[in-house]
Amino acid sequence: MQTVTTITDVRKRVAEAKATGHSIGFIPTMGALHEGHLALIRRARQECGFVAVSIFVNPTQFNEKRDLEVYPRPLEQDLLSSAEAGADLVFAPEVGEIYPAGFATQVVVDSPLTKAWEGYFRPGHFAGVTTVVAKLLHIAQCDRAYFGEKDWQQLAVVNQMVRDLSLPTVIVSCPTVREADGLAMSSRNARLSAESRKTAKVIPYLLDTAQDLLDSVTAETQTDKGPVIAAWLRTLLESNAPEAKLDYLVVVDPETLAEVDEITERALVIIAVHIGGVRLIDNRVIVRR
Ligand code: PAJ
Repeated sequence: MQTVTTITDVRKRVAEAKATGHSIGFIPTMGALHEGHLALIRRARQECGFVAVSIFVNPTQFNEKRDLEVYPRPLEQDLLSSAEAGADLVFAPEVGEIYPAGFATQVVVDSPLTKAWEGYFRPGHFAGVTTVVAKLLHIAQCDRAYFGEKDWQQLAVVNQMVRDLSLPTVIVSCPTVREADGLAMSSRNARLSAESRKTAKVIPYLLDTAQDLLDSVTAETQTDKGPVIAAWLRTLLESNAPEAKLDYLVVVDPETLAEVDEITERALVIIAVHIGGVRLIDNRVIVRR
C-alpha cells in the first residue's frame, strides 16, 4: 500500500491502475478508522481492482470548532488498518492541499433533504460534506464510492448530488457495523466515559423497540403511525436515560427524510442524542410485516 498527500500523486496512481484495466473503488473517511470504515474498504476490495481510501478531517463540515479540535487523528494506526483491510492507496492530504488559499467554491444540495435533522442541528454541515465529497470524487476518478448507512442522511444527500451533477461514480451503500451490544461504531464512541458508554446502549434498544412497536399494531395502539412510535420512543428514552439530551427522534421516509404519518411498507427511525456530552446519531429501517 502506498500513502500519498498530493492530488497529483493520487491522479498518477489512479491513472496507472486504470491503464492496467482496474476498476477504481474509493472510500472517503475522516480517519480514526474502526470496523465500520474497514467494512467499506473490504467491500471495495471484493468489488474493485484498485482501492483508494482518503483520510481527511474536513474542517468545513464541522459546525463546532471544539468538535474539530478534539477529532482523533491516529494516522499511523489508520495506515496499518487500511493496508490490512486491502487498500492499495491512502490519500492523506493537508488542509491546504484540499483548500488552497483563495478556494471559493461550494457544492450545495439545496433541498429539504439538507435542511432537516442533521442540517438543522449542524448548520453548514452538508455544504461542507458535499463540497469535499464532490472534490474527492473528482480527484479519485473512481468507478464506485462506498458510504455507510450509519450516516443515512449524508448518504441521501450524496446520492442527490451525484444524480444532480451526473457524476459518473456509482454510490454503494453499506450496512451499519455495530458493537456487540448494538451501539453503532463511531469515532466519537471513544469519547464516552464508561458510564455514558453503558447509557448509550439505549440507542439501539430504542431502534429495536420501534420495530417491536410496529409489529404490535392494533386499532388501539396505532403503532403504524410514525408520530405515535416516535412519542413512545421519546418517553422510553426519558425513563431509561433521563440525562440524555435529545436533538431529534423521528420516523421518516427513507428517501426524502420527511416525517411520515402512516407506515404502509417501510420507514426509517432516526435519532441524534447527546450522552455525556458526546453527540451520537443512528438510524434503523423498520418494516411493516
Ligand atoms: P467518517 O465519519 O469518517 O465516515 C466515513 C464513512 O464511514 C462514511 O461513509 C460513514 O457513513 C461510514 N461509517 C462510519 N461509521 C460506520 C459504521 N458504524 N458502519 C458502517 N459505516 C460507517 O462520513 C464522513 O467521514 C465524512 O462526512 C466524509 C464522507 C468522509 C466527508 O468528509
